[in-house]
Amino acid sequence: MILEIRGIDTYYGLGHILHGLSLGVAEGEVVALLGRNGAGKTTTLRSVTGLTPPERGEVLYKGRNIAGLDPHEVSRLGIALVPETRDVFSYLTVKENLAIAERRSSRWQLDTVLARFPALRERLDSKGRSLSGGEQEMLAIARALLTGPDLLLLDEPSQGLAPFVVNAVMDTIRELKNQDVSMLLVEQNAEMALQLADRVYVIDHGTVVFEGTPARLRADQQVTATYLGVGG
Ligand SMILES: Nc1ncnc2c1ncn2[C@@H]1O[C@H](COP(=O)(O)OP(=O)(O)O)[C@@H](O)[C@H]1O
Ligand SMILES: [Mg+2]
Repeated sequence: MILEIRGIDTYYGLGHILHGLSLGVAEGEVVALLGRNGAGKTTTLRSVTGLTPPERGEVLYKGRNIAGLDPHEVSRLGIALVPETRDVFSYLTVKENLAIAERRSSRWQLDTVLARFPALRERLDSKGRSLSGGEQEMLAIARALLTGPDLLLLDEPSQGLAPFVVNAVMDTIRELKNQDVSMLLVEQNAEMALQLADRVYVIDHGTVVFEGTPARLRADQQVTATYLGVGG
């Protein structure tokens, strides 16, 4: 396992959000994390990256407990987050947004990343605020890659994107999987996630309510109807 979350409890102030949540991502695996709005998906990612550290439990990355490390230390160890909000700097150009993330040690350098995202190359001198949602998502993924991650955490990458842009994001995720990047993919778009994932977790109220293959989840009408609001 590249990532093993063991029984974490995470709070926002007095709000107890994650309750003994456990999940794992094996080397090279794409794992989907699904669940309705407010289930605790983003909080799970924030617990891993150190933005909202868990108060109990362990976050093992390559066998080492990283719970409680600062976000920059977690990033240095090879975990990158593509946040739901994408967090593109509006007043910086695409080139400047990318430059902030560059690391000499990364196996993805600017040239490789721009070869993957030709649309970004054409927009290098455009300000972040002028980008479309799809371009912002591409920039957020490109920036994450420049840091040289072994584990990529993607928070709702398809959110607000037109279907053809969602397809481009899916192609990118498939390509990264072929390059042995392990991924934890949070999605509201269950269909997209199920097409990409090797394994799936569904969480509700901060705890795991389903774990299994996409095929098993598709066959489980009770879980899909109750927690994903599909089928029935
Ligand atoms: N900064 C915050 N302060 C207090 N409560 C929060 C904060 N962020 C999220 N929450 C609450 O934590 C719960 C889980 O949120 P979140 O992890 O963002 O869910 P998801 O990503 O699955 O939609 C929700 O009930 C949400 O209202
Ligand atoms: Mg969220």
